[in-house]
Amino acid sequence: MGRFDDRVVAITGAAAGIGREAALRFAAEGAAVVLVDLPGDGLGETVAMVEAAGGRALGVTGDVTREDQVHAYVQAAVDTFGGLDALINNAGIEGRVGPLTELAVDAFDAVLAVNVRGVWLGMKHAAPAIAARGGGAIVNTASVAGLGGTPGIIAYGASKHAVVGMTKTAAMELAPMRIRVNAVCPSPVETRMMRALEAGMNPDDPEAVHALMAATIPLGRYGESSDVVALMCFLCSAEAEFLTGAAIPIDGGMRAR
Ligand SMILES: NC(=O)c1ccc[n+]([C@@H]2O[C@H](COP(=O)([O-])OP(=O)(O)OC[C@H]3O[C@@H](n4cnc5c(N)ncnc54)[C@H](O)[C@@H]3O)[C@@H](O)[C@H]2O)c1
Repeated sequence: MGRFDDRVVAITGAAAGIGREAALRFAAEGAAVVLVDLPGDGLGETVAMVEAAGGRALGVTGDVTREDQVHAYVQAAVDTFGGLDALINNAGIEGRVGPLTELAVDAFDAVLAVNVRGVWLGMKHAAPAIAARGGGAIVNTASVAGLGGTPGIIAYGASKHAVVGMTKTAAMELAPMRIRVNAVCPSPVETRMMRALEAGMNPDDPEAVHALMAATIPLGRYGESSDVVALMCFLCSAEAEFLTGAAIPIDGGMRAR
């Protein structure tokens, strides 16, 4: 018996990193997973990995900033697996690294489109489908950058604070439908995104950035995708049935300072 037997879980940003790990873990625990990402090889690879492990997966190519494509992945969950029980609203981009005085408007807007509009659209279209099943869970991927200042990535920090704010509002609005909404707030995690941020902060020596950042984490290391996914699974499980509206650090103690 898996925790998510007979459940359908949609996961955005599933072609890589935390989203791929979530796909593998939810499927391993019994869920049918609907995996969403931009065009590219990664999404099909994740689907193949889930299926090779004996899981059920549907890949849906889509851009979370586009309302028609968000509606389409929710509809695909209903059409293929009969409904939707949970959404892992995880797709995100880091944007450019640099002083706020040098950031272009287009670059700022691009980050907010994915990280804010995409998360809102996911909730907008998933909530009615989840409500039709009698309730369920939404997990939004925020960041420690949604809980405090992060110099050099103002758009990203703004977007993740917005994810925390939207999570609280959605938790209150959707509670009558028995849909719980929580945010996970990871510290740096060992994925492509951190490699890009490290290179943006110090192109000559990204590994030095890694060492400096790891040193700010009391447990002494970056997170792994599996650390974050363990919390996502808990938040979608029956054990978390009284937990909603929370923004939970998963950060090795980074925000305990
Ligand atoms: N890696 C970290 O250190 C870290 C820390 C805190 C929070 N996060 C958050 O975790 C989430 C996952 O990040 P990750 O580290 O796995 O990064 P990643 O870059 O490996 O994965 C992000 C995925 O989102 C997809 N994506 C981007 N824009 C999209 C769009 N418009 N439509 C659909 N898919 C889109 C990408 O193609 C990619 O597959 C993000 O929201 C990120 O902000 C990451």
